[in-house]
Amino acid sequence: MERETIFDGRVRLEKVCKAYGSTIVLNNVNFSAKRGEFVVIMGRSGSGKSTLLRLLGGLETPDAGSVEHGGVRLERMTEAERARFRRREIGFVFQFFNLIPTLTVAENIRLPLALNGIDGAEAGARVTALLAELGLEGTGDRFPEELSGGEQQRVAIARALAHAPGLVLADEPTGNLDLETAERVLGLLDDACRKHGATLVMATHSREVVGRADRVLTIRHGRLLPADAAEER
Ligand SMILES: Nc1ncnc2c1ncn2[C@@H]1O[C@H](COP(=O)(O)OP(=O)(O)O)[C@@H](O)[C@H]1O
Ligand SMILES: [Mg+2]
Repeated sequence: MERETIFDGRVRLEKVCKAYGSTIVLNNVNFSAKRGEFVVIMGRSGSGKSTLLRLLGGLETPDAGSVEHGGVRLERMTEAERARFRRREIGFVFQFFNLIPTLTVAENIRLPLALNGIDGAEAGARVTALLAELGLEGTGDRFPEELSGGEQQRVAIARALAHAPGLVLADEPTGNLDLETAERVLGLLDDACRKHGATLVMATHSREVVGRADRVLTIRHGRLLPADAAEER
């Protein structure tokens, strides 16, 4: 898909600190991902995985340090520029799917296209292609609650990719699925991001994902470490 873009899929955190009140969540964190890379972030519940993804996606700003996308620093943008950046450049996938229950499957997938001013035949073609890619043929006119959990998450993945974002952020995307479904969904998410050339940063507890990832990191005590170095014994 043709798109005007400021972002080439590279993302970088430099000396990022984030606290909520007296809780220090991220303490001087450095991170970078290359275009098209698949990076997994592990760590216990409450360790800061979601916070890290929100910072990467420009949903939150750090207390100190910088968040850069393709060399552009998010903290130097105005709120309106950041909103536009999120809308164009980021695809989000959440644990509980977050589909809009009153919109059909096709309408949910069309939403980010509409927000980016893409409609008509181009949007229709894009939705049809994504439905096929994610094994969702024939579900376009159904409502989310008429689908299984795995199908709903596949719709959410299609929605995350519809506007061809440079970066997909997935926050425990299989946390609400049974193991077999989780594996299928992970495979589809990984394949789809690779095919679309999107960088994928995923927070997960699931060890199954490790074999697919280019890199696995763990957050522990506010630090981001290579997963092996953080193994708890
Ligand atoms: N908006 C917020 N306000 C206050 N505390 C928060 C907020 N978001 C997260 N936290 C706290 O920050 C820590 C890290 O949370 P989170 O990033 O959600 O961890 P994880 O995703 O690894 O479970 C937790 O102690 C959590 O309670
Ligand atoms: Mg979380």
